[in-house]
Amino acid sequence: MAGVPAKDPKYLKEIERARRDLRALISSKNCAPIMLRLAWHDAGTYDAKTKTGGPNGSIRHDHELKHGANSGLKTAVELCEQVKARHPEITYADLYQLAGVVAVEVTGGPTIDFVPGRKDSKVSPEEGRLPDANQGAKHLRDIFYRMGLSDKDIVALSGGHTLGRAHAERSGFEGAWTKDPLKFDNSYFKELLLENQSDPDLLKLPTDKALVEDPKFLRYVELYAKDEDAFFRDYAASHKKLSELGFISP
Ligand code: HEM
Repeated sequence: MAGVPAKDPKYLKEIERARRDLRALISSKNCAPIMLRLAWHDAGTYDAKTKTGGPNGSIRHDHELKHGANSGLKTAVELCEQVKARHPEITYADLYQLAGVVAVEVTGGPTIDFVPGRKDSKVSPEEGRLPDANQGAKHLRDIFYRMGLSDKDIVALSGGHTLGRAHAERSGFEGAWTKDPLKFDNSYFKELLLENQSDPDLLKLPTDKALVEDPKFLRYVELYAKDEDAFFRDYAASHKKLSELGFISP
């Protein structure tokens, strides 16, 4: 799609209106976690070498929604349709990333700078670009380095699991990572460091555990567990990077 009028004052105004609608929708439906997951799964397919995948709205297509990793995300795509219907000129790519930014904001997380202008793509990447929760540190690096992201980004962004929970029927895992899954804070990192004394009902995926097992990742886990401001600062920067993979502001 050529020429998204991102600097057009009319488009910017529409973005602000959509932002307000998303705030209301996400608060009334308590759907911040699934909205954040939608934004991350649209963006997290990016391949820096081939410049394919990324935050381009392609996740809305049935064949991509059917990828195993996207199980459950149809609900989030449908919720976004309500906002799209009121603001049809906004691209899906911008809408999903805006939803992710608003989800973090309305649950008490940091403000993330949002630059509009992403283009929609009809082309979906092949299945298998998103991380597999059953693997470890090497796999996390393979996946996130492919996107052009760093060790710090991996740990900061994993803090997204401060929100929401796993559903056995979607991923095979069950439970929330934190005691208050609708509050964006640094409790994910505090729980990770509790190890054996942690509440047995809380979830730790193998990829979550990898963050305390790998010494380079652990440095960031320790910092974010003791300093929520440092977590919010780094999270906001990493989330912005994730939301802009392959995107050159028009
Ligand atoms: C949920 C894996 C990174 C945000 C999940 C679930 C899995 C998973 C297995 C459960 C899905 C379900 O059963 O409903 C992973 C792995 C990651 C990763 C292996 C690698 C580091 C991230 C990142 C973010 C994120 C970077 C956002 C910045 C979420 C959220 C949920 C979730 C908010 C909860 C969704 C809900 O409550 O419906 N993730 N994730 N995840 N993930 Fe991740």
